[in-house]
Amino acid sequence: MDGETDGRHIILHPPEHFEGMRAAGRLAAMTLDMIAPHVRSGVTTGELDRLIHQFTLDHGAVPATLNYRGYPKSSCISINHVVCHGIPGERRLHDGDILNIDVTSILDGWFGDSSRMYVVEPIARRASMLIDVTYEALQRGLAAVRPGRTLGDLGHAIQSYVEQQRFSVVRDFCGHGVGQRFHEAPNILHFGKPGQGTVLAPGMFFTIEPMVNAGRPDVKILEDGWTAVTRDRSLSAQFEHMIGVTEDGCEIFTLSPGGLHKPPYS
Ligand code: MF3
Ligand code: CO
Ligand code: CO
Repeated sequence: MDGETDGRHIILHPPEHFEGMRAAGRLAAMTLDMIAPHVRSGVTTGELDRLIHQFTLDHGAVPATLNYRGYPKSSCISINHVVCHGIPGERRLHDGDILNIDVTSILDGWFGDSSRMYVVEPIARRASMLIDVTYEALQRGLAAVRPGRTLGDLGHAIQSYVEQQRFSVVRDFCGHGVGQRFHEAPNILHFGKPGQGTVLAPGMFFTIEPMVNAGRPDVKILEDGWTAVTRDRSLSAQFEHMIGVTEDGCEIFTLSPGGLHKPPYS
């Protein structure tokens, strides 16, 4: 790989690059809005994936996950104790399921990456609490972003809040730089120490996507090579936004146009 993209160099994007990310991020967010009414008892995750695939193509974009390092589908759908990278298929949703749907659209060369939680009501009180804490953890992470602060500050904001709520932060997966590539520098850890790590600067584009477990943080990968689950089979939740660092904070590229920020959505 070349020096720009070897995983060390963090690209500082000029203001004109924000427009491409706005469009790609907005499409990912629209896709997550579109799927909300389809998340119902009885539907299969494969059916949800097909809707996402078609919606993405209909809007002039390509699903980034399809054939990415051999990944076979156009979205990741991670139910209950699945932490991330659940592969859509024949699994039907049932009352009480909580799930993350993660979509990435490539629009005019820019990657739009976002995920949210969805629920099939009624859900357990603890599941609802986990979703609320994970949502708030992402908000705390977003609020920690401004030039001069560090990635350690960001990770600490998330970790300290989650652990105060007696849940745990997954260590095995992280957020990532994003732009004209799916995953690039820097890694965005959702834990850390204040003042440590890379100093944030205007023009950095990255995701924040904390995975929070109701039990222990440990994960394992199933035999399909993708599906990550909690080792203790406790519930897991995740929300993901894609942002650009600005002069005084950050711009969120993946806000829901329909106001579907956190479930329940109806
Ligand atoms: N969208 C995921 C992320 O947030 C990546 C999924 S890669 C896949 O980074 F291959 F698992 F689809
Ligand atoms: Co991501
Ligand atoms: Co994602």
